[in-house]
Amino acid sequence: MSVNILRINASIFGENGVSSQLSNTLLQNLQTVYRNVDIVERDAASGDIPHFNANTLQQINDGKAELADTLIEEVKNADIILLAMPMYNFGVPSELKSWFDHIARAKVTFTYTENGPKGLLENKKVYVITTRGGIHRDKSTDGQMPFLNTMLSFVGLDDVSYIYAEGLNMSGDTREKNITLAKQQIEELVSEINSEALS
Ligand SMILES: Cc1cc2nc3c(=O)[nH]c(=O)nc-3n(C[C@H](O)[C@H](O)[C@H](O)COP(=O)(O)O)c2cc1C
Repeated sequence: MSVNILRINASIFGENGVSSQLSNTLLQNLQTVYRNVDIVERDAASGDIPHFNANTLQQINDGKAELADTLIEEVKNADIILLAMPMYNFGVPSELKSWFDHIARAKVTFTYTENGPKGLLENKKVYVITTRGGIHRDKSTDGQMPFLNTMLSFVGLDDVSYIYAEGLNMSGDTREKNITLAKQQIEELVSEINSEALS
């Protein structure tokens, strides 16, 4: 089976970021399942995706929003989206927020119906890898998940698996232990695809 993967990294540490490295692990695992993999990569930390501002809105209204159009095409073409999401200051990296700002477009990725908003991106699998210095899962200090759950669902991305690597800046062996656990989570998630494909 052949799949299009859109991989978005957002670590300010580039390839050394734990989220980038876990995203590599996930990608390598997916490549053992799918024979033909076409990968499009975006490095949100590169500064290529500026803030969504008045100019961006004007460009969209003028039909000249080249970057936003490209980002939307990339997400529409993807079967699988890998989102590597470090926690910076309790939230989503601002460049990743910018990416969402660019891909959320009325009548293209979401629409409003009598029953409220409806996402228009369909049949896509999303993997979110979140890496944190501390432990925030299910706590009020987790500013990422409330936004992410709402945002992904708003544009129709409902099939989401989350991989957590927390406590990365804690003392002792927490970092290594939790990176190993995240890798195990990745292997389990990918082995589920294997068995689904075989059944
Ligand atoms: C600018 C900055 C802000 C951070 N803010 C937080 C934070 O609010 N909470 C937290 O648990 N860890 C925080 N961390 C730690 C990172 O989440 C941790 O280093 C993680 O590994 C980042 O992922 P990455 O290695 O893929 O970049 C911060 C790190 C940096 C560099």
